[in-house]
Amino acid sequence: MIRGEMEMFYNAKGMAFFMGAYFCALLYSGANLAFFGRGEWKIVVLALWLLSGLSLPLGIFQKRYSPQLRRVGGVALAFVLHLSAAFLFLNAWTLLASRTTLDAPSPRAAAISLNAMLLWIAYGVARAQRIVARAIHVDLLSPAPRPPVVLLAVADIHAGGVVEERYLKRLQKRVAQCRPDVLLLLGDITDGDVSRAVGAGLGEVLASFSAPLGKYAVLGNHDIYAGEKASLRLLRDAGFETLQDEARVVDDAFVLVGRNDPRGRHFGLPRAPLRSILDGLDGPATKLPVVVADHTPQNLEEAESVGVALQLSGHTHGGQVFPFNLMMRWIYGLSSGSQRRGNTTVCVSSGAGLWTMPLRTVTDSEIVLCTLSFKPRNPRSKACDRRVSPNPGGSCPQNW
Ligand SMILES: [Fe+2]
Repeated sequence: MIRGEMEMFYNAKGMAFFMGAYFCALLYSGANLAFFGRGEWKIVVLALWLLSGLSLPLGIFQKRYSPQLRRVGGVALAFVLHLSAAFLFLNAWTLLASRTTLDAPSPRAAAISLNAMLLWIAYGVARAQRIVARAIHVDLLSPAPRPPVVLLAVADIHAGGVVEERYLKRLQKRVAQCRPDVLLLLGDITDGDVSRAVGAGLGEVLASFSAPLGKYAVLGNHDIYAGEKASLRLLRDAGFETLQDEARVVDDAFVLVGRNDPRGRHFGLPRAPLRSILDGLDGPATKLPVVVADHTPQNLEEAESVGVALQLSGHTHGGQVFPFNLMMRWIYGLSSGSQRRGNTTVCVSSGAGLWTMPLRTVTDSEIVLCTLSFKPRNPRSKACDRRVSPNPGGSCPQNW
């Protein structure tokens, strides 16, 4: 078994739980298919169901890595999830009909529901092909006025999983259009195996990113599963400064803190309290606003309590597809977008890449373009959040 895939679920028990849940959904949807299925569409959906039963395990446990097989497995996972959701809906309808005067779902209604589900998945595959730039504007309290800094945050590329060379080239073009002053990678640049990410051209793409005030990165959980040392080497070879519970002063404008991911503790990478990292600063740096890069958006109270101006996170992917969007919102509260917490702005990116499934039905793949303005007198800072549609002809706007 591939090390990354196993460690992504921590251990064999976690993998067994994931596969067990998948096969339960497969059996549930298969039994319902036999009950509700009628006519020709039943044969089509049954064939897809059988293909799904095989392709996810093959995609995950393949010995010689094939991104195509991995993508088919990812679509299969989404297919089974959506098929199960469609049958849950039909079963709830049937139950309601048995207790009220409502008509039970007809075979035609079942066929329409399942066709709508297939169209929804196809929409998700198409939507996942584009990468949008989301713009946020944050005012930071500063000891002195100075021109704004444009920081581009890129989270969750997940190269080496279902993200391959063509997708990375698209990301490369999108980043180049934005012309940031500072580039910040928010972790999970790889997925399961650093050598696969390198084979997809991630090293060249990262090296081509340019930012005059610096390129910085933190590790995400998948980078640690794939191998901390190899991930750090890949980033450093591409010209990134990696921050592991460390702080840097960027252009005398703000302090950038990069934190270790909480899951690192399972792999010998402890996480220092934010206060202790900031206590290591001295001189004029102590007066500068603080921007934190923290892969996983949990324990947000900590950033708020020490007066962080802006925290940037990723990890959630905004859920990518139903029902993961609900799960992410339940686990993290804020699963994508921006939020004010006291004097702290928290921005969670839904990620530039794709995890396991090559589709997105509930969020876009995105990079986050933050314009940081420095206000010496204004006692409050504000954040606005709006989505910028892809701009194929020109560059990303830099002043909002
Ligand atoms: Fe992550």
